[in-house]
Amino acid sequence: MPADALLHIEDLTKVFHIRQGFSSQEFHAVDNASIVIDSGKPEIFAVVGESGSGKTTLAKMVLGMEAPSQGNLRYKDRQVAALSKREMKNWFYHEVQPVFQDPFAAFSPLKQIDRYLYETVYNYKMVGDKKEAPRYINEVLSEVGLTLAEIAGRYPNELSGGQAQRVAIARALLTKPSLIVADEPVSMLDASLRMSVVNMFRKLKEDNAVSVIYITHDLATAFYAGDRIAVMLRGWIVEMGPTEQVLGNPLHPYTQNLKTSIPSIKSDEAWDEKIDLAVIETDEYTRTGCKFAGRCPAVMDICHDNIPPSVEHEGRSVKCFLYDEALPAARN
Ligand SMILES: Nc1ncnc2c1ncn2[C@@H]1O[C@H](COP(=O)(O)OP(=O)(O)OP(=O)(O)O)[C@@H](O)[C@H]1O
Ligand SMILES: [Mg+2]
Repeated sequence: MPADALLHIEDLTKVFHIRQGFSSQEFHAVDNASIVIDSGKPEIFAVVGESGSGKTTLAKMVLGMEAPSQGNLRYKDRQVAALSKREMKNWFYHEVQPVFQDPFAAFSPLKQIDRYLYETVYNYKMVGDKKEAPRYINEVLSEVGLTLAEIAGRYPNELSGGQAQRVAIARALLTKPSLIVADEPVSMLDASLRMSVVNMFRKLKEDNAVSVIYITHDLATAFYAGDRIAVMLRGWIVEMGPTEQVLGNPLHPYTQNLKTSIPSIKSDEAWDEKIDLAVIETDEYTRTGCKFAGRCPAVMDICHDNIPPSVEHEGRSVKCFLYDEALPAARN
């Protein structure tokens, strides 16, 4: 374990079962994922991948909402799975906060939205005296461009999607977290609001030293905001490294496939085309060998029956035989 890791994800795997008639087949929704987020070096870590690539499953494991089947998950050198309920509530969720796709799902329509903020402040004892709560809440809301006066007494349906998502982010910030796990936080917002939320994450990183795991299928915002990026395919991290390198000069044939859509991205359109392409290969989870072999333009014989290693190459890790030094012959 790296001595100064905030989050250490090591060979993390989640096995689910697909029912097929009377039998069921195992598949790995997340398969041996390894990511290290350093403490003292806040970053936006983007996770991209088409639908079903395992992004949410990875997020749920990091958030302690889904138990890993195998592997190691440590937050500040503590095994997350071994934390007691009390430690989860009083310590872990104090420091690690989620933001989800649908801000309205996080709030009951029958409850005034500021009540959630007060509850969080009281539950986590963020102020010494309850009288200080409004000032503290207002201060945190100002970080997301809102004021308490604007939202006080209002029900979720009286807010726009962008406002509700900003309240959800403010709620996550109230506990002064070190890590935010944001699963598709902008996908329900329109394009202009997307950028403002993404910019907010960047500002939080700069000003509050918060690291953000930013899960998205929106390559444009991942490219813009991500310091590093992991590209997922059917549970595998196929390429991971500094965003500029990975998306600027992708090495994995799958990432190269995605790159064509980056310069022209204005909306999700380009990405959605890729998703349609992906659906053709439904057996990718369970195939032996490389999961991309069925649609890889650079496929080699070895790829069909052997799992490619993750190798370090040009400043990133890439899970592909093309870059396996042990296989010089395969690269021609
Ligand atoms: N509880 C579950 N039981 C069985 N299979 C599951 C479960 N949760 C997720 N899966 C499957 O695991 C795979 C990965 O799902 P996941 O939700 O992690 O993907 P994702 O990358 O977040 O996709 P999306 O972009 O659509 O949100 C999918 O095939 C999904 O159907
Ligand atoms: Mg998801």
